Amino acid sequence: MPLLGVNVDHVATIRQARRTYEPDPVWAAAEAELGGADIITIHLRMDRRHISDRDLRLLRETAAVDLNLEMSLAEEIVQIALATEPDMVTLVPESRQEVTTEGGLDVVGQSERVKKAIERLRGKQIPVSLFIDPQEEQIESAAELGATFVELHTGTYANADTPEERNKCLGELHEGAERGRKLGLTVNAGHGLTYRNVSDLVRLLMPHELHIGHTIVSRAIFVGMREAVRQMKELIEKAAASP
Ligand code: PXP
Repeated sequence: MPLLGVNVDHVATIRQARRTYEPDPVWAAAEAELGGADIITIHLRMDRRHISDRDLRLLRETAAVDLNLEMSLAEEIVQIALATEPDMVTLVPESRQEVTTEGGLDVVGQSERVKKAIERLRGKQIPVSLFIDPQEEQIESAAELGATFVELHTGTYANADTPEERNKCLGELHEGAERGRKLGLTVNAGHGLTYRNVSDLVRLLMPHELHIGHTIVSRAIFVGMREAVRQMKELIEKAAASP
């Protein structure tokens, strides 16, 4: 059964809209755990657009499940990760203008930087996941550089306009997952997944972990965080039971 990592960044986004103290992503994480979240995921951005250093510190202390820190390769953030020691780190690309993470990390194009970051984090026993597109060269490079996990970027699948495009994306993700596993990587998936598109992906890919944020926080507005997470867990469980 794939594990569910719940990304609570968007709770912090609402807080930052007023630069106030509510809603608190730390509360959201506790509620997500009560709904069945296996992992809490946060992205500490260089611009601190949503998650803050205080959120990371408190979640490190209070999350009873694993804490996954999404982050760029920026030295300041690598230092914070080394000092905070989250249960795992996911390296993602980051640019100032983006609305959300726009594509996978180019591992091939910056292999030395990625390798060094992996070595330093692994030196602190922090396993590293690389958020990448399901391309052969990116997956091979991830394995060579010593990543523990790859998180295959599912955004293109999620945004596909036609059934043909959707199937093509699913095929690429499936091939990528098989390739990664053959190379000894643990294969995760995430980005853009919703209550509507998660089941097909789970049936085909059977990822080790799914990292899902926006759709869960959106539903939580109407049904509460605990229930929104419970509903997502139920969908994943059902899909995993009927591959
Ligand atoms: N995985 C990664 C690497 C991400 O950067 C994000 C967005 O922060 C997610 C998963 C979650 O994406 P979404 O909010 O679209 O579910």
